[in-house]
Amino acid sequence: MRIDFGEPKPLDSLEGLRLHDPASYVEECRHDVWLALRRQRPVGVDEMPDGTRYWSFAGYADCDKIVKDTATYSSEEGTILASVGVGDSAGGQTITLMDPPDHGALRRPLMRTMRQSVVRRRADAVREKVLALIDPLLHGGEHDVARLMRLLPMVAAGDILGIPEKYWETIAFNTTASIAPEDPEYAVGRNVGDTLRRVHHQLFACFTDAIETRRRDPGDDVVSALLGLEIDGRPLEDRRVMLNCYSVALGANSTTPHVACHTLLALAQRPDIWRTVVENPSVIPALVEEGARWTSPTHHLIRRVTTDVELSGAQMAKGDWVCAWVASANRDEQVFDGPYDFDLGRSPNPHLGFGAGAHYCIGAPASRFALSVIFEALALRRVRFEVTGEIRHLYSNWINGITSMPMRFTPGAVTA
Ligand code: HEM
Repeated sequence: MRIDFGEPKPLDSLEGLRLHDPASYVEECRHDVWLALRRQRPVGVDEMPDGTRYWSFAGYADCDKIVKDTATYSSEEGTILASVGVGDSAGGQTITLMDPPDHGALRRPLMRTMRQSVVRRRADAVREKVLALIDPLLHGGEHDVARLMRLLPMVAAGDILGIPEKYWETIAFNTTASIAPEDPEYAVGRNVGDTLRRVHHQLFACFTDAIETRRRDPGDDVVSALLGLEIDGRPLEDRRVMLNCYSVALGANSTTPHVACHTLLALAQRPDIWRTVVENPSVIPALVEEGARWTSPTHHLIRRVTTDVELSGAQMAKGDWVCAWVASANRDEQVFDGPYDFDLGRSPNPHLGFGAGAHYCIGAPASRFALSVIFEALALRRVRFEVTGEIRHLYSNWINGITSMPMRFTPGAVTA
């Protein structure tokens, strides 16, 4: 989705909203819709194409509550719009699709392989890999940054996940294809079903081999942690290990590249902000955090109500589907001053870009580190960058992604 600077003109009418339509996120900046929702209809009912209805919440306080109150708002049947009405075949099996307390049995050991102290310990090796990935940008010239950044999550976290490097490209491409099979960049099959079959087949082949490799040669990584895990005294069966590999790889690949791209794009559009970063690189942690809020790589998070409940006037019944529009929450003027500004001084910055509560992103330390390395390296070399061609956005109602972004990089060109 395009992201514009400045407050949008809210939509005049909310009639006939098609929030589920992936096409509506390709060309337009949809903050006009979310602003109108927050002003006119912060809580409402929307419909999927098959007529299944779901509650839409647009304000920060409600979204924060929905995401944090896991007893009332369950993740077990799906966390994306595509699951509304049909559920998710991996429900109850993966870290993202489980509720506390069972969820903790998976999350705790995975967390141990990905927490801040681990990222710090692995920092030198990861920095070297990230710098190698962005080396072409540091040397200048024209590059399609979106294609280059596709590999960033695997470079940043592939070793933490325990996935052999030979699979990184395949996994990076296919995880995104699995959530955007209609996007022209990712439509590798004859039709959506064929694309999904192909990408799932390749993903499961990679994960099967990664699992066998780690079984023979266990390490300090996610796959090994999954293999060593016992729930109720029984090891996790291979299918479940595989589904969790998929879930973690998807979490990584569907988000991190787009925060990198959208942040670079915002800085290209506002060279004054980039100059501030170049002159004072100590703001880079704030830049990364604001980049995550600005991008809000997941437009929404879905939950299902476990009991009859009321929230902000909505009388919901057990089994109702609920959508927290995180991207809208991250522009809520009740919480963020100047929400349509890219503000390096924003503090605090309690954005929901990484989620919140029990499901808060476990990859946040790894992705924050990788993003910091990129901006530190560009700042150190005083690289100027500008867009040189057409930017293409991901065909998805879930992920705010960029699939192509040609840019020119000029080292030493940011002058004091
Ligand atoms: C800028 C980068 C990233 C963003 C913005 C992001 C965003 C998110 C969000 C919004 C959630 C919450 C989902 C929910 O509540 O249903 C989440 C959870 C998760 N993320 Fe990330 N993510 C990023 C990077 C990563 C990386 C690099 C990895 C893996 C290496 C990862 C793995 C996960 C996993 C496994 C979960 C599920 C945690 C749980 O359910 O307990 N993410 N992420």
